[in-house]
Amino acid sequence: MISIKALLTEKELADQFVASLKKGMLEEKFFYWFPLSVRAWLDLCSDGAYRNFVRSRSLIATSAGQIAALLPPGQIEVVSIGSGQGDKDLLILQALASQSRKALYRPVDSSQALLEMACGLAQEAGFSAEGMKADFARSDHLTLVDTNRSAPRLVMMLGNTLGSVDPVQMAATLGKHLMPGGTICWWMVSCTGPRPWRATITR
Ligand SMILES: C[S@@+](CC[C@H](N)C(=O)[O-])C[C@H]1O[C@@H](n2cnc3c(N)ncnc32)[C@H](O)[C@@H]1O
Repeated sequence: MISIKALLTEKELADQFVASLKKGMLEEKFFYWFPLSVRAWLDLCSDGAYRNFVRSRSLIATSAGQIAALLPPGQIEVVSIGSGQGDKDLLILQALASQSRKALYRPVDSSQALLEMACGLAQEAGFSAEGMKADFARSDHLTLVDTNRSAPRLVMMLGNTLGSVDPVQMAATLGKHLMPGGTICWWMVSCTGPRPWRATITR
């Protein structure tokens, strides 16, 4: 069974979608809302022509062991903000497991379909997973994500997820939701530059 807690309801999403249409500006979360748009996203990710996905995934693959080694010993909660289908997150979970660490996976996303995939993938690989359907642009939702914690956390925002928000404001908001010794890890891949760029903020 897949376990997902919902802070953001489908009715709220529908109401916000109508309001967004009236304003003539669709927020990014709606691009992943409908089952067919999720399918289009997955097709895009599996098509090597979408270089951002390929580069971002390979950056995580080559750095997962290094990220895992940065974390405090013992059990770790891996919180992925805007997790999508969770395949990059799985690389981090596997790196933790290979260092004999117990990882609890906590994906956060507004897309029910993608959360189901992320949790399902992690569970099939033997990890404990619980999804949170939430809007990461809402501070009240992140506060509730925060109160749920049971171990030191790695909070991740991977891929181009950061592109839909103000990065400085998001850094400040996420900083409030870390336990001492936690790590915010942003791995961004520039669309045009020759090399990926990454930022790790530890406190
Ligand atoms: C570009 S995809 C990246 C997915 C994944 N992190 C990766 O690197 O493959 C952005 C993800 O953020 C989610 N998302 C966008 N806006 C959101 C919001 N306001 N609240 C929660 N999730 C959101 C989308 O549903 C989607 O899964």
